[in-house]
Amino acid sequence: MQNMPSSVSLVDVGPRDGLQNESQPIAVADKVRLVDDLTAAGLQHIEVGSFVSPKWVPQMAGSADVFAAINQQSGVHYSALTPNMKGLEAALAAGVREVAVFAAASEAFSQRNINCSIAESIERFAPVLAAAQEAGVRVRGYISCVLGCPYQGDVSSEQVAQVARELHAMGCYEVSLGDTIGTGTPGATRALIERVAQHVPREQLAGHFHDTYGQALANIYASLLEGVRVFDSSVAGLGGCPYAKGATGNVATEDVLYMLNGLGIETGIDLDLLIDAGARISQVLGRKNGSRVARATLAAR
Ligand code: HMG
Ligand code: MG
Repeated sequence: MQNMPSSVSLVDVGPRDGLQNESQPIAVADKVRLVDDLTAAGLQHIEVGSFVSPKWVPQMAGSADVFAAINQQSGVHYSALTPNMKGLEAALAAGVREVAVFAAASEAFSQRNINCSIAESIERFAPVLAAAQEAGVRVRGYISCVLGCPYQGDVSSEQVAQVARELHAMGCYEVSLGDTIGTGTPGATRALIERVAQHVPREQLAGHFHDTYGQALANIYASLLEGVRVFDSSVAGLGGCPYAKGATGNVATEDVLYMLNGLGIETGIDLDLLIDAGARISQVLGRKNGSRVARATLAAR
């Protein structure tokens, strides 16, 4: 098919982006089981947790315990968010081998999410990148609000491109473009990627689409046409963002996988095992499964 890649990598961010938003306590054992289930389903990259302030995101406080207990498969990347040196040091102490820093394309969101300006966040990331590289740890970069901000509305693609350029220049191996509130549409997504790709090679971009407005699959398809090969998604569509009111979870991994399977694009992931993983965590949380593919498949089983 025109412009379509033969393979795509999915990063399951459910254990982090999904669970960070849950106010009910979740046992470490349940988080570990979720990560292990995702490994068993064939995910090559799983975002396991965050080393952030427990006052800001209480649910991620046990991330070191989760890392200590998961069954890490060689060749699979298990990563964590680290907003500053304190986070990186805690992650390294927990044996984490891949971390992510997270910036925003909107000043208002940067303040609400990490309590500093965009420029200050980039300054804070510099020693994190240096120390991680020293330790041989890969660093991914996120940008929130690339297609709209819950506090300031429109965000210019110029601003996104600027932040992407800085994250890439400071050594992030990949820059994940986050549609935090899910307001983006395919035309805007394509235009954004074209703009950002003037600074960061398309092979080093990822798409991170929350599905609040039901546009995520269309935006992923649009991104595929633009040469993006890596997408973040959340099993069972878990989650939201604590600093973006009303935001729903990431697009469900099951739904993305079903679409990619239909396009004949390889991922290495087993859809049935993935559906089992999503069904189990949805049951633990007492939540309706957020994947339409999973709901349809489970109803037909
Ligand atoms: P701050 O209050 O400015 O930090 O928060 P501080 O350096 O002034 O420290 C204040 C307190 O926090 C101190 O403790 C520090 O020790 C502690 P106290 O002395 O008061 O007891 N602290 C930490 N504790 C544990 N781990 C740390 C850490 N750093 C400081 N790493 C900070 C700044 C960034 C820490 C805070 O704002 C924070 O933790 N924010 C969390 C933000 C977050 O996790 N958001 C959700 C993830 S991002 C997201 O979901 C978007 C994404 O999915 C993409 C998209 O969809 O857009 C990635
Ligand atoms: Mg997110």
